[in-house]
Amino acid sequence: MKPVSLTQYLVELQREKGLIPGELRLLLEVVARACKRISLAVSKGDLADVIGAAGSDNVQGEAQQKLDVIANETLLEANEWGGHLAAMASEEMEGFYPIPHRYPRGEFLLLFDPLDGSSNIDVNVSIGTIFSVLKLPEGVTEPTEENFLQPGTQQLAAGYAVYGPSTLLVLTVGDGVAKFTLDRETGSWTMTGNHLRIPEDTKEFAINASNIRHWEPPVRRYVDEMLAGKTGPRGKDFNMRWVASMVADVHRIMTRGGVFMYPRDAREPNKPGKLRLMYEANPMAFLVEQAGGAATNGLQRMLEVQPTQLHQRVAVFLGSKNEVERVTAYHQEQAGSAPS
Ligand code: AHG
Ligand code: MN
Ligand code: MN
Repeated sequence: MKPVSLTQYLVELQREKGLIPGELRLLLEVVARACKRISLAVSKGDLADVIGAAGSDNVQGEAQQKLDVIANETLLEANEWGGHLAAMASEEMEGFYPIPHRYPRGEFLLLFDPLDGSSNIDVNVSIGTIFSVLKLPEGVTEPTEENFLQPGTQQLAAGYAVYGPSTLLVLTVGDGVAKFTLDRETGSWTMTGNHLRIPEDTKEFAINASNIRHWEPPVRRYVDEMLAGKTGPRGKDFNMRWVASMVADVHRIMTRGGVFMYPRDAREPNKPGKLRLMYEANPMAFLVEQAGGAATNGLQRMLEVQPTQLHQRVAVFLGSKNEVERVTAYHQEQAGSAPS
């Protein structure tokens, strides 16, 4: 069979299936092109001036790496002039970025984590980009931050790129999940998987276990039961994997199943988790659900969480359906029995 390119896939979604408007197709092409540029910068490593600290902090109080800044700028520059967007928001910018008036404005909002897995940049381990597309509410001409605060169910598209041994783009517009591999010789995204499925059961889990002493009881119970293995209540042995790049951990789950957790914990009791709802948890939840998996914040479906802030954090449980349902039930049980 002839290889299918990203462009062909998107054109088919637009023209034959009528699933996406032409403007969204063009927007996704531009995002994919920006990811290609980021991939190129990542792959140069020490040969270019892209590794190491940028010397600044982002709004989350995290030290920015050079690649965080490069990836953010690449996405902004690629997307600001095409006419498809009204505004963008990013992990690396405190406020949102309205499209400058010198360019035409479109009806979409783009949110991104330009470089996910920053702690892995220096050590040549897989990192990535995560993005989400929303629609500007009807009748709005001058976008505000509030326009971004839509639950994940409203996403029109979501995806991630993984900059690993090969560069991948994994995408959904609500018609299942498709995977593309960057052909470095031709520069084109070639479809290497469609209708990806996450098995409902798994023997693999991903969590940063160094935080065990900070976990809440339902997470401890769930992980303890898995660690007890064959002779424990689960009756089987589990294996653990933690890349510490959400894109890479989620991509493993997309490929062979598993459960990924970043729970809220007692380190910073005021923060409901580490990961960010709008440009990490929601796009991943959309992709995972489209692949037959599940995603919650421990208590409710991730995609139904009503956002209140652009950079809000959230507890994340996602992956193989039966496991996510189990750990969510443990949280719900505890919430139900907690004194009010
Ligand atoms: P980012 O690099 O965009 O700030 O995200 C890092 C996130 C996520 O990718 C990963 O799952 C998690 O942080 C790793 O956290 P630990 O350092 O606690 O392992
Ligand atoms: Mn991230
Ligand atoms: Mn990031």
